[in-house]
Amino acid sequence: MTQNMQQQPLVLVLGGTGKIGRRIAARLATRGVPVRIGSRTAAPAFEWNDPATWPGVLNGVQNVFISYAPDIAVPGAQQAVAEFTRQAATQGVARVVLLSGRGEPEAEAAERIVQDGPLPCTILRCSWFAQNFSEDFLLDPVLAGEVALPVDGVTEPFVDCDDIAEVGTEALLDGRHAGQLYELTGPRLLTFGDAIGEIARAAERPIRFTAIPLAEFTAGLTSAGLSPDEVSLVSYLFSTVLDGRNSCLRNGVERALGRPPRDFADYARETAKTGIWSSR
Ligand SMILES: NC(=O)c1ccc[n+]([C@@H]2O[C@H](COP(=O)([O-])OP(=O)(O)OC[C@H]3O[C@@H](n4cnc5c(N)ncnc54)[C@H](OP(=O)(O)O)[C@@H]3O)[C@@H](O)[C@H]2O)c1
Repeated sequence: MTQNMQQQPLVLVLGGTGKIGRRIAARLATRGVPVRIGSRTAAPAFEWNDPATWPGVLNGVQNVFISYAPDIAVPGAQQAVAEFTRQAATQGVARVVLLSGRGEPEAEAAERIVQDGPLPCTILRCSWFAQNFSEDFLLDPVLAGEVALPVDGVTEPFVDCDDIAEVGTEALLDGRHAGQLYELTGPRLLTFGDAIGEIARAAERPIRFTAIPLAEFTAGLTSAGLSPDEVSLVSYLFSTVLDGRNSCLRNGVERALGRPPRDFADYARETAKTGIWSSR
């Protein structure tokens, strides 16, 4: 190991194989920062439900990116995050960055726990990820050409995961972001129908959007094999969080990075080029 490498802080990225975490890990690696991935499939393995796995991943770490799985709003998340940050402080961690959700009282409670905790922190309070349409549960419906969701005219400022990852990376590397709460949204309010329209245009294929009742939606998730916990989480997000409370823009990306966030149309165009929406 060179002297330069020895001086670099080790950064732990929880959820480091997920949509935001893997983008942060890649950015840190490009900048020569030693990274440890925290996830069930990493070595050493990290499991939120098994605190015995926490000391091993925290060993020798300076800064931590906290992404709670499956969702920061689920029961048990606040206690786990509180206990994890206490443990991190005991093991000499200097700063944390928390990935949070917008419009969720449970997420905001978790934010307060971290803000009131023993370590300086940065909060990334994010709106819906654009990449849910290409790297998560909305990819299959997009590929099937038929997206049926229990939302009608409500608008959401979908945010690009690359913007979130860029803010997260800066916050991990630069202590001047400590104490900040960045509310991260895209630059434009879109309905889910608008978003599907952008994707259809970029992918050059017909994709229909239909608004359906919540009960029909959850029945579909259950018959698709989702567990009761997963069904209840997705229904919570659609019935509670997507009620219009998040239908406004915020300037977190601009404040953190000094540039505007990426528009959904740019996300759709760049993602279409990868071929992910053409594989069926
Ligand atoms: N998706 C959105 O639109 C959105 C919006 C705002 C906020 N958020 C927040 O973002 C966070 C990430 O959610 P996501 O949906 O984008 O998931 P994701 O990060 O794409 O995937 C989950 C990550 O967590 C790891 N993981 C899963 N279960 C785990 C466990 N029990 N213990 C340790 N690691 C585990 C997974 O890796 P392994 O499988 O290798 O363990 C993976 O790296 C959540 O806290 C969510 O509340 C999401």
